[in-house]
Amino acid sequence: MNEYDSDRIKNALDAEPTDDPGSADIIIINTCAIREKADQKAFSSLGKYKTLKANDPDKIVGISGCVAQLYGDQLLKKMPHIDFVLGPRAIPKLPAIISEIEREKRKTVETSYDIEELFEIEPYHQEGKVTAFVSVQQGCNKRCTYCIVPRVRGSEVNRPLEDILRETTNLVNKGVREITFIGQTVNSWKENGYKFRDLLRAAGDIEDLDRIRFTTSYPRDITKKMIDAMSDVPQICHHLHLPVQSGSDKVLGGMKRTYTREWYVDTVKRLKDAMPDIAISTDIIIGFPGETDKDFEQTMSLMREIEFESSFSFKFSPRPGTVAAEYAAEDAVDPEVASERLYELQAYQKEITSTKNKNRVGFIEDVLVEGESKNDPEFLSGRTDHNRILNFKGPKDLVGKTVKVKVTEGLLNSLRGELVV
Ligand code: 5AD
Repeated sequence: MNEYDSDRIKNALDAEPTDDPGSADIIIINTCAIREKADQKAFSSLGKYKTLKANDPDKIVGISGCVAQLYGDQLLKKMPHIDFVLGPRAIPKLPAIISEIEREKRKTVETSYDIEELFEIEPYHQEGKVTAFVSVQQGCNKRCTYCIVPRVRGSEVNRPLEDILRETTNLVNKGVREITFIGQTVNSWKENGYKFRDLLRAAGDIEDLDRIRFTTSYPRDITKKMIDAMSDVPQICHHLHLPVQSGSDKVLGGMKRTYTREWYVDTVKRLKDAMPDIAISTDIIIGFPGETDKDFEQTMSLMREIEFESSFSFKFSPRPGTVAAEYAAEDAVDPEVASERLYELQAYQKEITSTKNKNRVGFIEDVLVEGESKNDPEFLSGRTDHNRILNFKGPKDLVGKTVKVKVTEGLLNSLRGELVV
């Protein structure tokens, strides 16, 4: 989501990007507030540009994204070298804000949620890139007690179907072959009588779009019709990121996730019944207030029961104004205990991911070739339908094509293979 917003900012400015902050006319730090660590990172990045601004007062320095929304004008007081503060919904206002600062040398804070042209600025697209994101939804209507997103990104706004399809088709015309629809709870998307499954089916009709992915799905909004669309439309990848957060019903209740462990397990079963090869990944929060050893053990037993393809796991971080931050004031889990639990869970996940990757050896995978491998330009790199990275040797003109690759090696974070000709 933030990467997408950064690309929108790049496009909104219509300026030449540079890696050298010293020579930049405008510096914008796009920030994330989901956990405290991310938000601290924003402050330390901003601090770095203090001297640059002092030496060159005409340079414009701004902060955008969720940290900007969260702290608003306090940021200007705390960091006087900043020229503007821009919330995540206000990106379309950026060009006007920059010209105003240039003209009037006045500091600006734009954090209103009511932005009419919410989806107006589409992201910068690097020529030749084979994959792209398309935003279908902004904000969130769920009320998970730990989460700051509804506060900083506002309530859910869904983008019209025609606009999504138009942006997708434009990208395909530029050579994109894989689209990932993004939204905070992407499968809750509904607009003008259409449901998410209708969007999936309509995307399946776009010519030359080889692959469709979407993220992040909210478990309670997985419906039978959505599963049917996923299994019917051949371009939809059989990979689903489905954050469970915990395996304990008590913790899920405290989080207000609106499902039980049994319900989640049954949903995964329904997905696997329809698509036996589907790869499921997840997010887990460790050390939610009141999480006991027994609760954690239930999370571990869920990990063993489902054997997720991969998982992102985080220590609970109390966020300002959230209900769970109040719980944490009374019932916080000892940080050392939380670290031990996190370590145990991540070690287990590594084992599973690595075994699953090794088990792919001998399989022939369809790989959409994205470019040269980052670590070794002799190799081409792409992803399998299940979202695993697969590196193999082959001619560069395969970039953008879907090819068959036989897996020869399964590593922890990727596969290696040989082109099948
Ligand atoms: N503390 C820790 N992890 C969090 N996440 C969201 N809010 C918090 C928080 N306060 C995690 C969830 C979510 C992912 C994007 O970040 O697991 O799915």
